[in-house]
Amino acid sequence: MVELHKVDVVYEDGTKGLKDLDIHIDRGELIYITGNSGAGKTSLLRLLYGDLMPARGVVKLEKKNIGHLKSANVAYLRRDIGVVFQDFKLLEDETVYDNLKLPLEIFYLNKTIIQERIYSLLKQLDLFTHRDFLVRKLSGGEKQRIALARALINDPMLLLADEPTGNLDIKNADKVMDILLNKSKKGTTTLIATHDKRIIKEYPGRIIYLEHGKLTYDSAGGRKIQNA
Ligand SMILES: Nc1ncnc2c1ncn2[C@@H]1O[C@H](COP(=O)(O)OP(=O)(O)OP(=O)(O)O)[C@@H](O)[C@H]1O
Ligand SMILES: [Mg+2]
Repeated sequence: MVELHKVDVVYEDGTKGLKDLDIHIDRGELIYITGNSGAGKTSLLRLLYGDLMPARGVVKLEKKNIGHLKSANVAYLRRDIGVVFQDFKLLEDETVYDNLKLPLEIFYLNKTIIQERIYSLLKQLDLFTHRDFLVRKLSGGEKQRIALARALINDPMLLLADEPTGNLDIKNADKVMDILLNKSKKGTTTLIATHDKRIIKEYPGRIIYLEHGKLTYDSAGGRKIQNA
């Protein structure tokens, strides 16, 4: 469902974020993108979210070339993708509930359905009691889980999570991972950029290791890109 073929990402100042990247990802896979700071993990997630364009190569999502989209089409693409960024990007002066309501309203769902979905997800994340709190009053770990809830609220086909367990203690990290694993089993393709060796060990998934923008290890091994 995701295909990258000979992809380079170059930032405006000439820094190469990704080099000659070949990756093929099937629906429902759970993949850890790992590697040192500056290796290109966030660049890869931004590329798949239409937030960075490749300088070279082909990027395909569901066989559609997303490498050179116009902004209107980027917005359309993002309806099917959930993202959790390193800095959350939540609306700090809105309530937890309203942060989760916004992405649902673009689909014109009725109020009862919206409320059911939000309540159910908040309960899974042990944050139901926080539903009317302003986001700026939450702890880092709580914000992390709300950012995850927002990314999942639309049942995306692709989930991109940048260090989703970064601010969490083991108990909460496990809660987050259980939800991600569950979603991927139901068919959500899940990419997790992480340094967290413990979760990689305890929650099995494919491992892609980046070094200075290059793929140096892929536990899926020699798989070739098709239809590129
Ligand atoms: N906006 C930018 N402009 C110029 N260079 C950038 C920009 N963003 C990232 N880079 C560079 O691109 C390379 C890859 O960065 P990236 O943020 O993808 O790494 P990362 O693996 O996510 O690191 P971390 O673990 O610290 O989050 C680094 O050399 C970084 O300095
Ligand atoms: Mg990063």
